[in-house]
Amino acid sequence: MKVLVVGQGGREHALVWKLAQSPLVTQVFCAPGNAGTAGDGVNVDISATNVEGLVKFAKAESIGLTVIGPEATLVAGAADAFEKEGLLVFGPTRTAAELEGSKVFAKDVMRQSAIPTAASQTFGSAEAAEAYIADREETRLVVKADGLAAGKGVSVCANKAEALEAVRRIMRMHEFGDAGKRIVVEEHLDGEEVSILAITDGSTIVPLETSQDHKAAFDEDRGPNTGGMGAYSPAPLITPEMMDQIIAQILVPSIDAMKKRNRPFKGVLYAGLMMTHQGPKVLEFNVRFGDPEAQPLLMRLKTDLAQVLLSVAEGRLSELPSLVWDPRPSVCVVMAAAGYPGEYEKGAMIRGLEEASRVPNVKVFHAGTTLRGQQVVTNGGRVLGVTALGDNIGDAKLRAYQAVKCIRWDGAWCRHDISDKARRHPT
Ligand SMILES: Nc1ncnc2c1ncn2[C@@H]1O[C@H](COP(=O)(O)OP(=O)(O)OP(=O)(O)O)[C@@H](O)[C@H]1O
Ligand SMILES: [Mg+2]
Repeated sequence: MKVLVVGQGGREHALVWKLAQSPLVTQVFCAPGNAGTAGDGVNVDISATNVEGLVKFAKAESIGLTVIGPEATLVAGAADAFEKEGLLVFGPTRTAAELEGSKVFAKDVMRQSAIPTAASQTFGSAEAAEAYIADREETRLVVKADGLAAGKGVSVCANKAEALEAVRRIMRMHEFGDAGKRIVVEEHLDGEEVSILAITDGSTIVPLETSQDHKAAFDEDRGPNTGGMGAYSPAPLITPEMMDQIIAQILVPSIDAMKKRNRPFKGVLYAGLMMTHQGPKVLEFNVRFGDPEAQPLLMRLKTDLAQVLLSVAEGRLSELPSLVWDPRPSVCVVMAAAGYPGEYEKGAMIRGLEEASRVPNVKVFHAGTTLRGQQVVTNGGRVLGVTALGDNIGDAKLRAYQAVKCIRWDGAWCRHDISDKARRHPT
């Protein structure tokens, strides 16, 4: 079977790398891909937003399964276009992808299905939002643009003044365009964040191992939010009892609610949770593999990924035997360009990749990279996801940073504390 992976980030490189290991798979294409997917698969020069071009390519190449990585492509309805042509595709339809495409819609689903989440209000006008905030006691609030905003649409505000400023930027200055036509204003939750991903064909739900991302740019969770500076798996914070609670109170009711709304959800449901004193509460839903969570997760998955994704696309997930996981923990350290998450330059030559990949149990997943001739150069803010398996979390961290030390380009930087949070919850 030929497989097509759509996208060009670290998540997509991990998917290409894992799918290429499957005995079912004869060839893996990646559109448009990066310098890493060019090594583990074959890049195709079609942008991830060119749905027509992707469908045409899939038909011409008799692609057996297409896996769509990025949320923007899913929210734009790419899976619908593939299904319409009778092509097997992994990823939710446009209406199901609205769980991520619209934070207002997601809140509505959670409210109606009594899924635990932050108390919130939705506003379609700046005046109404400003009046609501002005009326409240002084408090921390979180203001979220409704639509996709590349991970930049959320403002965690220390006080009312900051919340009013966020409303002004989103709804008066239109910083995120139509994505800011409506907003959600919600209470600030305290606790530790965790990423819970589950594979589903709309009826059967198969949770993946737990993982934890690091959103803040700098050590000890300081600085602005990013797309994620590193992740590790498993997250010892989540006990088996908590996982049962998360499945019963969040995953099952969400999938049921989507079915009842005639928007059956097929693909990955990613619940971003805050583990509060009152239990797990949903911060958001994403409808694709997390990035950088996919890297440590797929490093640990032993089951054939092509089998899994195919059984979802064909709606027969219930037939799949339980997933098999490597018990060893995995750590992914993101290396970023100078200036990220703000302005950054592209085109810096990357050295030491060979050396890094010789560190045992390490895989260097590419994100923002491209080839200039034979040379790998930077091509994004988050450039690499250096991922290692270890006998324990400390060993995995050590190996990942050993490999990071081998890699150089002007201005390269990373956090130094990825996975340290795990030590707070000894198993
Ligand atoms: N109610 C809340 N209380 C405290 N922090 C919050 C709350 N909602 C969001 N956050 C913080 O803001 C971050 C981003 O929020 P959210 O996950 O809703 O947005 P997003 O832009 O869709 O993120 P992503 O890029 O991960 O999909 C969260 O990871 C969390 O750190
Ligand atoms: Mg999101």
